Amino acid sequence: MIIVHGGAGDWKQDKLAAALPEVEKAATIGFQILRNGGSCLDAAEACTLHMEECGKLNAGVGARSNLDGVQELDAMIVDGVNLKSGSVMAVTGVRHPISLARFAMEKTPHSQFAGEGVKKLYERMLAEGYRKETSPGVTSSPFHSQGGDTVGCVAVDVHAHIAATSSTGGIPDKMAGRVGDSPIFGAGAYADDTCGATATGWGEHIIRVLLCKTVVSYVDDGLDPQAAASRGIDLLKSKTGSQAGVVVADSAGRYGLAMNTKAMPTVVICGKSASFRRFTSTADLQA
Ligand code: GLY
Repeated sequence: MIIVHGGAGDWKQDKLAAALPEVEKAATIGFQILRNGGSCLDAAEACTLHMEECGKLNAGVGARSNLDGVQELDAMIVDGVNLKSGSVMAVTGVRHPISLARFAMEKTPHSQFAGEGVKKLYERMLAEGYRKETSPGVTSSPFHSQGGDTVGCVAVDVHAHIAATSSTGGIPDKMAGRVGDSPIFGAGAYADDTCGATATGWGEHIIRVLLCKTVVSYVDDGLDPQAAASRGIDLLKSKTGSQAGVVVADSAGRYGLAMNTKAMPTVVICGKSASFRRFTSTADLQA
């Protein structure tokens, strides 16, 4: 299964219409990898990489700029099997921070990188041949893929292993150096061996309730993913008054999503039959 969102927010109709096909494509790319027996990490990275590449979502190429006019990107990948994660924060000059985040997780003893060290990490990633650079700051996809708001996904592979990602250009009018929830373990994304979640919304508020860890804990304690997602958003609203969205999937093949924003383009593909569902708002959940 893969559940993918393109960001919760006050989407304008034309922007939503342009974003939804990219979320669908990202989900299809990720699902294809899962269907071929690939790992949840490969699927989650490839899916997120497409959303960074498409230019229609607030990540990678399409990321919004900070108040200084610079794109500073945050991204994280979480491996639910061993509770490991890789994060890069306020990255500039790198088009696919999700790949760099995975490199941090898999090839260094650390989990979070920021500042000048991120540039060194990028150089090391290229030097080790982990990813190839096609032009300055641009790395190619190793997965042969074709390439609002924060994007993210939760992927569950044939071994029922779970990975979650998040990638973003951050919130409007952010100050230089500001880092949101997306690269913060437990806030912007989280996964363990039974459930994974990824969030979108105002990072300062998502961090206050550690939204993804909270939602996964609800599922671990027995709630189904849909009820857990809804309860997580209710908690965020009651504690902070803010708006956000969250998507959840578990190792039993169940999923859930909730938002208290106008829209959150979301696609779920699951099972041997590749059953496909698309959601844009809470109203679609009732349909
Ligand atoms: N959720 C994205 C951010 O606050 O940066």
